[in-house]
Amino acid sequence: MIKTESIFLKALNKEILPIPPIWYMRQAGRYMPEYRAVRKNFKNFLDMCKEPEVCCELALQPIDAFELDSAILFSDILTIPDAMGLDVNFLEGEGPVFGNPIKTPQDVIDIEDFDTESLSYVYKAVSNIKNALPSHIPLIGFCGSPWTLAAYSIEGRSSKDFLFTRNFIKENNVEAHIFLEKLTFACFAYLKRQVEAGADVIQIFDSWANLLSEEEYKIYSLSYITNLVSLLKNDPATENIPVILFSREPKAKLPTIMTSNSDCLSLYWSMNDIDLEQTADKVAIQGNLNPEILLESNDVIKKETLKILQKYKNYPGYVFNLGHGITPNINPEKIKYLTDLIRST
Ligand code: CP3
Repeated sequence: MIKTESIFLKALNKEILPIPPIWYMRQAGRYMPEYRAVRKNFKNFLDMCKEPEVCCELALQPIDAFELDSAILFSDILTIPDAMGLDVNFLEGEGPVFGNPIKTPQDVIDIEDFDTESLSYVYKAVSNIKNALPSHIPLIGFCGSPWTLAAYSIEGRSSKDFLFTRNFIKENNVEAHIFLEKLTFACFAYLKRQVEAGADVIQIFDSWANLLSEEEYKIYSLSYITNLVSLLKNDPATENIPVILFSREPKAKLPTIMTSNSDCLSLYWSMNDIDLEQTADKVAIQGNLNPEILLESNDVIKKETLKILQKYKNYPGYVFNLGHGITPNINPEKIKYLTDLIRST
């Protein structure tokens, strides 16, 4: 039988399903030998992201290998700061390093306006992937949250505590807010173009929500995500597109995060003690197996997965995912085992 309907879209629409849809954050990546074979042809990771045909091939690899219920655009959240002239490079073993980070408040004032069309390579990748997918497999477009993009852009690289950024936003509060606002409009324009190119769902990655206290989180992260979601929900091109919000270990509780008006919350793996009565029928849930469990035996994987499936059984709108991305040290066999396990229980 040819499937025509997407169980992923049904779950995002808060339907109760017998078997949850499955996709994995970082489902395309270095843990797959097929990915590494393509990756070795490029020195700089972002150069690979600038090739729409390559992005299409990479986005389809995990769909072909595991028959997942959604594809995700192959790209990176740092395309926006790169397009704003901050010169993002990925150095071997170091992650992203900015050639031209935001160092002073004047840098915020001087930053180039975001030219939406300068990321046309991303929209081309979206349309290529969408055309290559069967109709029942949706495509997720994505961006980083304004706060997460600001944190990388000010720090200039990845960091454990982002101390420079945290001092910068206190000492240059007006400019910090100007920057966050510029990033919010850039994210909106970027996501709208992804949707026009064929993205069916949007995920916002707030990967550095954990750096902020609850009060700071509301001021520097949540308020801008809320504005972004509202821009999307008020534009005819994007109003019907479900929005998933991934927040890494935020200090705020779910009812606070729900004020963003996202359709689905993607839970970090430590967020286990949530009260589903507060969220049921209001927001779909995605998550949240600890990716490190995939380094354990099949028995351990099974035990931990069944706990999660039990918790969300009969939940109106549940999507199986990990609590953060697949890491390069995970064996693809474990992804196969996990996927088959969920579908057989
Ligand atoms: O299947 C997918 O999810 C692929 C698409 C994707 C990538 N990055 C590809 C990638 C997505 C959705 C992202 C999002 C992203 N990028 C986030 C949010 C998710 C999260 O993990 O919290 C963040 C914080 C980034 C920024 C980023 N990109 C970092 C910090 C790094 C280096 C760290 C690392 O894992 O190497 C990247 C590089 C990156 N982005 C890789 C991939 C496949 C690995 C690059 C390589 O092959 O060398």
